[in-house]
Amino acid sequence: AANDVTVTLLPSKESPIIEKEIYGQFAEHLGTCIYGGLWVGPESSIPNTNGYRNDVINALKELHIPVLRWPGGCFADEYHWMDGIGPKENRPRMVNSNWGGTVEDNSFGTHDFFDLCEMLGCEPYLSGNVGSGTVEELAKWVEYITAEDGPMATLRKKNGREKPWHLKYLGVGNESWGCGGNFTPEYYADVYRRYQTYCRNFNGNKLYKIASGASDYDYNWTEVLMKNAGHHMDGISLHYYTVLGWSGSKGSATQFNEEDYYWTLGKCLEVGDVVKRHCDIMDKYDPKKRVGLLVDEWGTWFDEEPGTVPGHLYQQNTLRDAMVAALSLNTFHTFTDRVKMTNIAQIANVLQSMVLTKDAQMVLTPTYYVFKMYVPHQDAKLIPLSVATPQIAARDGRKVPVVSATASTKDGKTTLSLVNTDLQNESKITIDLAGISAKKVSGEILTATSMNDYNDFGQPEKVTLKPFKNGWQVKDGKLTVTLPAKSIVTLSLQ
Ligand code: AHR
Repeated sequence: AANDVTVTLLPSKESPIIEKEIYGQFAEHLGTCIYGGLWVGPESSIPNTNGYRNDVINALKELHIPVLRWPGGCFADEYHWMDGIGPKENRPRMVNSNWGGTVEDNSFGTHDFFDLCEMLGCEPYLSGNVGSGTVEELAKWVEYITAEDGPMATLRKKNGREKPWHLKYLGVGNESWGCGGNFTPEYYADVYRRYQTYCRNFNGNKLYKIASGASDYDYNWTEVLMKNAGHHMDGISLHYYTVLGWSGSKGSATQFNEEDYYWTLGKCLEVGDVVKRHCDIMDKYDPKKRVGLLVDEWGTWFDEEPGTVPGHLYQQNTLRDAMVAALSLNTFHTFTDRVKMTNIAQIANVLQSMVLTKDAQMVLTPTYYVFKMYVPHQDAKLIPLSVATPQIAARDGRKVPVVSATASTKDGKTTLSLVNTDLQNESKITIDLAGISAKKVSGEILTATSMNDYNDFGQPEKVTLKPFKNGWQVKDGKLTVTLPAKSIVTLSLQ
């Protein structure tokens, strides 16, 4: 039977803007994210522009990526930026101990990353080395990138870049409680204070300094950091993965049953409770909400695809991942007063990717299409709403709402995104528009025949965006729309 759901839009003049940085991405030196995924080098037979893959860059441009985090992740705390500048043939090699012991030749470095950001039109977000690097090294990286004059600027100019770059986002360490140094929160808070002191604002460049924050349910980390170092930061991070657990199998990305599907969605939605609890702690120390919470790693984490390189975290991406993306973004929208950025992990070939590549081939994932569909929400004004929906019971006592919704407005257009999580039944949704005009309505839908469907190399796309026609009716200020089972729809109202 069809589900009956009502959504009430509650437009308010005071409601916040959905910062475009909520749609941020993350690229780590991990597996084939950088090498092979984004960058193949100018000598490659794969069509490229100065070494960047044309197919991947063109696809990513469609997502209007606002910010890209690099070079890690765990890799960041072993990365020595000076190894990645100057003539490529002279660059030292290193072992990427976090990620499969692959040898890193440092051929993709600072200049290459900033060029990539320029191509994508996004802000760079650097993750600095605190775990195994020095204060001097981090201070000099900032100087190299942003100073107009001085020894580091001279070195940069010698390496072919005359003008300084603009750098806003600087992370001071990554997962400092774990791969980034195994610090206690008290010790890291002091180290953070020290490192950030020497990251200077050169020539009008203003850094937004981000402390390495908690993972999941580690509320004590946020508490100690806010208490001991809150005044020295602009942002603090949070990592939350939709994962079965950190030991043993994480389950297959493609072979799963209905029970697994609903469990995954329930776990993903728990990010709302987790973010809320970290925000409550931040409110105690920073009631004016000066410090942003940046969920700078999130997404699904399953077992690596059979036959792929261990430690490279290469996973496929099904309609279930698309659901996780949409539900997570809908949730982040409700925290825009505190959550100033999020970065899905990762942009290519790692975990919940936008694109997957195999030699010269590329596929766009179901997650890619959610990000594409949600572009109109970037920098739009949130329209708060309430949803009256049945819930589906999932394993571990979790509950998944049948329908999740989010809405925003920008340039006289209202964008309404609706998710029907129910695998069997369509949902009839009645939306109280609260006076919002819906004279012209158009829509797009993402769905598939099966919840396990994914896009694979050399095959027609099974999960792709399609126009959504005829599924709605507007009468007496109410919009009624019927969403097929397991579908995501975005409507544009004017
Ligand atoms: O995204 C993969 C890894 O997950 C990152 O390197 C690390 O920060 C996190 O544990």
